Amino acid sequence: MIGAARIEDNIPPCDETIELISHGAGTSRFGNFHNYYEFNPISKRLKLLTPDWVLPLSDRKSLRALDIGCNSGELTVELHSHLKLLGKPLTTLGFDIDPALIKKAREWTSSDEVEDIKFETIDVMRDEDRDRVNGFAMHFDVAFCFAVTMWIHLNYGDDGLKMFLKYVASKCDFLVIEPQTWKCYRNASRRMRKEKKAFFQDIDELCWKNDILEKIDEFLQEDCDMRVERKFGITPWGRPITMYRTRIPKIEMTK
Ligand SMILES: C[S@@+](CC[C@H](N)C(=O)[O-])C[C@H]1O[C@@H](n2cnc3c(N)ncnc32)[C@H](O)[C@@H]1O
Repeated sequence: MIGAARIEDNIPPCDETIELISHGAGTSRFGNFHNYYEFNPISKRLKLLTPDWVLPLSDRKSLRALDIGCNSGELTVELHSHLKLLGKPLTTLGFDIDPALIKKAREWTSSDEVEDIKFETIDVMRDEDRDRVNGFAMHFDVAFCFAVTMWIHLNYGDDGLKMFLKYVASKCDFLVIEPQTWKCYRNASRRMRKEKKAFFQDIDELCWKNDILEKIDEFLQEDCDMRVERKFGITPWGRPITMYRTRIPKIEMTK
């Protein structure tokens, strides 16, 4: 149909854009792009995630936040500054699998005098590493999971993603999550094939695919005791940002 544009046509091709123009990053197995924020500036997400997202946490005496797959920390720092507006004692742990990104996060935040944020190299899929998260806190008031689910899914399959979601939900009372769309999977997998690297499993073998966004939502609500607290809308890359709240609060029980 001439002149009729599909919504999909206006969405940039997900992480593909980043990877093609990122310098020296090559094909990224974990989405550990070293110049991620040059191509996905945090402002795109923050347009949707205005600071009033913190309001459901306003009754807390103190706050602990967890940012899973924090890359070089730019979004972590901004979300931490939103939480600070509540005027409560606050600590944030940002972690990432890539030590170079954590080094970068530590470097720039120390010069900017960002307080009360710790950055650690942690692989969320390794038991020993998850013990180190427990060393920081057993439970968090809020956890962030932005643009990470696809990388877990591609590397660890359906069962790995389910385990990851269960883990994340078990660690927090509130979860703010931005899962990638199936289009992103197709692009990431095509890039890997092009480079003849066999890191990812065949995406055709995944059971969660086209309807990945619905599957993650269903799983969080039906298997992880969470319910939707707020929907923030869809990013320019077609990804929804949603806040979930646990049905079984952990922090009230332990504080
Ligand atoms: C596409 S980036 C998103 C960064 C950030 N969350 C954001 O949205 O601005 C995905 C990040 O997840 C990290 N990551 C992927 N797998 C991980 C794992 N198993 N454990 C910890 N971090 C992981 C990558 O290193 C990368 O920095």
